[in-house]
Parts: sequence; C-alpha cells; structure tokens
Amino acid sequence: MAGEFPALRANEYRDAWCGQVLPDRVDSGVRVAGWVHRRRDHGGLIFIDLRDRTGLIQLVFDPDDTSGPAFELGHKLRAEDVLSATGQVVRRSDETVNPKMATGEVEIRVKDAELLADSETPPFEIESFSGEVSEEMRLRYRYLDLRRDRMREAIELRHRVTRAMREFLSGEGFLEIETPVLTRSTPEGARDFLVPSRLRRGSFFALPQSPQLFKQLLMVGGFERYFQIARCFRDEDSRADRQLDFTQLDIEMSFVNVDDIIDMNERMLAAVLAEGGVQVELPMRRIPYDEAITRYGTDKPDLRFGLELVEVTDVFRESEFKAFRGAIEGGAMVRALNAGTREMSRSDLDGLVSDAQELGAKGLVWAVVEGDGWRSPVAKFLSEAEISAANEALGASEGAVLLLVADEPLLSAEVLGELRRRLGGRLGLIEEGANELLWVVDWPLLEWAHDEERWDPHNHPFTSPAGEFDPDDPGAARAKAYDVVWNGWEIGGGSIRISDPDVQRKVFATIGIDEAQAEERFGFLLDALRFGAPPHGGIAYGLDRIVALLTRAESIRDVIAFPKSASGVDPLTAAPAPVDERQLRELGIAVRGGGPRREADGES
Ligand code: AMO
Ligand code: AMP
Repeated sequence: MAGEFPALRANEYRDAWCGQVLPDRVDSGVRVAGWVHRRRDHGGLIFIDLRDRTGLIQLVFDPDDTSGPAFELGHKLRAEDVLSATGQVVRRSDETVNPKMATGEVEIRVKDAELLADSETPPFEIESFSGEVSEEMRLRYRYLDLRRDRMREAIELRHRVTRAMREFLSGEGFLEIETPVLTRSTPEGARDFLVPSRLRRGSFFALPQSPQLFKQLLMVGGFERYFQIARCFRDEDSRADRQLDFTQLDIEMSFVNVDDIIDMNERMLAAVLAEGGVQVELPMRRIPYDEAITRYGTDKPDLRFGLELVEVTDVFRESEFKAFRGAIEGGAMVRALNAGTREMSRSDLDGLVSDAQELGAKGLVWAVVEGDGWRSPVAKFLSEAEISAANEALGASEGAVLLLVADEPLLSAEVLGELRRRLGGRLGLIEEGANELLWVVDWPLLEWAHDEERWDPHNHPFTSPAGEFDPDDPGAARAKAYDVVWNGWEIGGGSIRISDPDVQRKVFATIGIDEAQAEERFGFLLDALRFGAPPHGGIAYGLDRIVALLTRAESIRDVIAFPKSASGVDPLTAAPAPVDERQLRELGIAVRGGGPRREADGES
C-alpha cells in the first residue's frame, strides 16, 4: 500500500516515510523515524533496517559521515528501539542492491540520529514467522505481534474491505446508521451478554447479538436502505470462525424481494472481494437447502471439490446386513461417498469409522472395490447384487474407497458431509487459490429441537415464511431466507422479514413464545409492525470471516486487532476479571460461588 501514503508534513521526527525513500530522492537530505528492525555491525560500519508502517529503509552509520554521538548511539541500538535519523539518500553500489526490499536500491548515510524510545528485548522476534510463537504469547503481547508484516497486512486489508463496503453501499443509496449497544436481547440463537443497570437495580441491558430488530425498525422509520459495520456479542464457545464479540456488515432494504437482495449483494461481493484480489463470477450459484444436505451433507458446502454424497437406501432395503436393514426399517437412510481410488491403510479406514462415531453415527462401513466384490469388514453380509447396485449408484470402479452410513436422514448426511469436508483437505482435492461462492436458498423456516421438544426458528424468529404459514404443519414451512457460503464457510445470511404482526404472532406462538411473552419481549416490534411496516429484508455478513478468507488465515483471530483467545479470554488485558465488592454492591449484585467471587472478596 506504499502508494497510498500522503506526503508528510516535516517535523522534528521525520519528513519522509521509510518505505518511500526511493531512487528519486538520491542526493537529497531526508529524516525518517521508526523501529529498529535489524542491526548488523560490519567492523567500522553499522547497518540498521529502520521500519515504519510503510516498509523498511537501510541506514548506514559510518564514522566518516555520522556525528560522533550518533555513531555511538548506532553501536548501542537494539531491535525495536525507536529512532529518528537524518542523512543523505545515496544509491547503493550494484553488488549491494537488495531486490527483496522496495527501497533496496538506496540507503541513507546517517548524519545524525536520536533515540526516541528504547525497547526491552521483545519476548519473540518481530521478523520471525508467526507459527513459531504460541498464540497465547502473541495475544499477551499483541502490540508487538501487530508490528509483524502478516498482522499489519491483514489489518490493512480489513480497512480496505470495510472501505469498499462503505463506498459500494453509499453509492447504492444506503445510509450508515448506528444502533444501540446497550439494549434488549436480540435472539440469534446464542446466549446474551448482560450488563447490569445501576439505576434500575435488578434490571439488565443485553448486548446485541445483532442489530436485527433495530434495522427492521429503521425500515419502519422510512430509511429504506441501511447498513452498519456493527459489533455483535454472543456468549458462545470461541472457535476458529467465532468470537464473543465480532463484526457484521449489516444491511436492510425496503420494498424488495429475495432476487433484489441477492442481485445487490452479488454486485457488492464482487466489488468488495476484488479489493482482496478475488474474482467473483456472477451470477453466483444458488443451491436449495435440501440439495445442499443431500449432495454435500451440510448447509455450507465447500464446492471447491466434488466427492458428492449418494443415497443408496433402496439398495439395502432387503439386505441380510442387519445394521443396514434394521436401521432402514427404523426410518434411516443409507448414504455413501465414493472417495475415489486411494491408497488408504487399514488404520486410516478404521480411523474414519471412529471419526464417524465421534460425529454421532452408529457406525461407518468402508469398502474397497476389488473385482466384482468389496474388501470390507461387512462384505460377507452383502449379496453380489447389492454390491454391484451400490457400485453403480456410486460410479465406483476398481480400487475405489467407499464409505457408507445408515442413520437418521439428517444425521447420516451430516456425518458423511463432515467426513467429505475432512477428506477434501486430507486428500489434497482443493486447488490452491480456488474460490467457490454460492447462495444456499429455500431454507426450512423451523427446525425441531429434540432436546426441548419444540420448534425453533432455523434462523431467527423474524424470518418471513414463503407463502401462507400453516401453524398446524410447521415442519413444512419454507423461509424466504438465504445464506452466502464461501469455501465451506458461512459468511453471511439473511431473509425477507415478517412485516405482518399477525404472522409474527403466529410464528412466536409456534416456537413457544406465548402472547404475554411476545408482548413483554417484542411488544415494541409488534407495535411498530402495526404502523405501516413496508415489506423489507436484508442480510448480515461476518466481516471477520470475509477478511480471514481473503488472507487465507486459519482463524478470524488473525484478522482482528485484539481478539479473545481460543478459550474466550483476553490474555492482554486479562479480561474477564473480577470486580471489586463496592462496584457489585452499587449494582445490587451478589456473586454466588465460583472462583471469581473469592478473588473479589479478597480484593475488597
Ligand atoms: P447470523 O446469526 O447468521 O444472522 O449472523 C450473520 C453472520 O455473522 C457471522 N457470525 C459470526 N462471526 C464471528 N463470530 C461469531 N460468533 C459469529 N456469529 C455469526 C457469520 C454469519 O453468517 N441478524 C441476522 C442477519 C439477518 O437476518 O439479516 C444475523 O445475525 O458470518
Ligand atoms: P456391528 O454389526 O454393529 O458390529 O457393525 C458392523 C459394522 O457395521 C461396523 O463396521 C460398524 O461400524 C458398521 N455399522 C454399524 N451400524 C452402522 C450404521 N448405522 N451405518 C453404517 N455402518 C454401521
């Protein structure tokens, strides 16, 4: 990004960026400032690579040019000291040109230098590759980690991505509007973070899981096109693609249908991802939810490789193999995956069986096609007809490795889907640099929550059903909802909303929120829907996920300046932390049990 830096106003620290000391400045004087990146002592000469945000420049301390005190300083400099230096830009001799450095054709012969701040020995080298340093260490000293190229580039890209979002959406008539952070619960399927109110003891704000309800109210408020780069808070387990607080690009539009939203978003994605060097082919593919499940075993399929699931229930309906026939009689489906001709050892294959079991399947059958038969622990229970019918359905030829699971329809798909995902990586089926974006559409409106024995919204309860909603057959209802999936990551999702208060009430009732609760929790929304709510809908993207995919980072933690660790804490500030007793008393809060309470007591 060197080209994007404006000329500096000269001051006592510097008059040029390190990365912009280029051959056009040869023979002129210059003053630069930054951190000591590298120091080499070559007998009489000292070489320093000085680093600022724009890059590196080589400084030469030479007793012939450099003042006595500056030369002495040069001897003492250590990595990460902060320095301001003045001198003459000179062209390097041919043999000392460094083609790896943007400024490698020149160097600064230092006349004078001033130490602005010294640095203790950093706990890890700024130059070294991040893999060598534990994440705990990187997060504990995040300000040092941020000095490394990889982090700086990620944060710079993040800025460019959000700027591209703002520019595109502003050009399309969207307004950026902020919504409250201290608010009420917005159900998005996670636990809320609560903030106690001092003025209303016993009452709590909730931090928003998303700006969902406010953006709908903005549509009722007539803004028609809203967006926000919004912080969201969800008390859930941290993972590679999840943080407790994270950032959404949140969007809402009025007087639109699904196609309008998809069209606008495809154009936006193309513009935004181009910023990160990714070309999006338009229109993007659309895959109905059911098809995603049956072909890929997941609602966020990675389409960078094939390895599709095939349903072979009919092949085994009458089978002598009891695990299959019995399961089928109990409503199971047999699904299978042809992993192709692979050299897989017995222990690799058995490993897949335990993987499947860990994922919740009762078992997994593996088979290797050999001649007309299968080499498989269960081959002896299967007839020739079954084997050849399965081979045909799977397009399996000699040497192919086949994996089969008989289980409840969704579970069998999900288990094989997860094995498919893992195999895609393990077998090297993913082409370097490939990108596959798609829409998953036609979602079920509700899903049956087995544990709680009730219907839950698949997405959130404000999603509009497609067509008439029949409360007597909730499982059949489809939603006007869509997700964007990129290389197997869900990067965004949204829907057309319910704009009719009666439909909203019916959906609440179906998911177990009765009139009184609906009034208590969402009365303000139901009120608003009675004052002329336009048809509206929108979407929200995980900004962290988009930037992580653009930088090929393994975790969104690598594209957030100050993330929580994998265990959901901040090693830098040691948050969360106990608070003192007085603060709790003021809030009318007593902490029951647990470690933090004892520590808090100890402090007061
Ligand atoms: P949803 O809950 O699907 O939808 O969230 C939208 C997108 O936000 C990202 N995301 C996360 N990113 C990091 N850490 C998390 N914990 C996390 N949770 C979600 C994902 C996801 O696709 N209000 C609706 C959107 C709408 O209907 O318009 C919503 O929040 O990339
Ligand atoms: P069992 O009859 O339980 O000893 O299982 C024999 C083989 O079939 C083992 O390899 C199991 O992993 C496998 N198996 C059992 N149940 C299932 C199932 N529902 N789907 C796929 N494989 C299964």
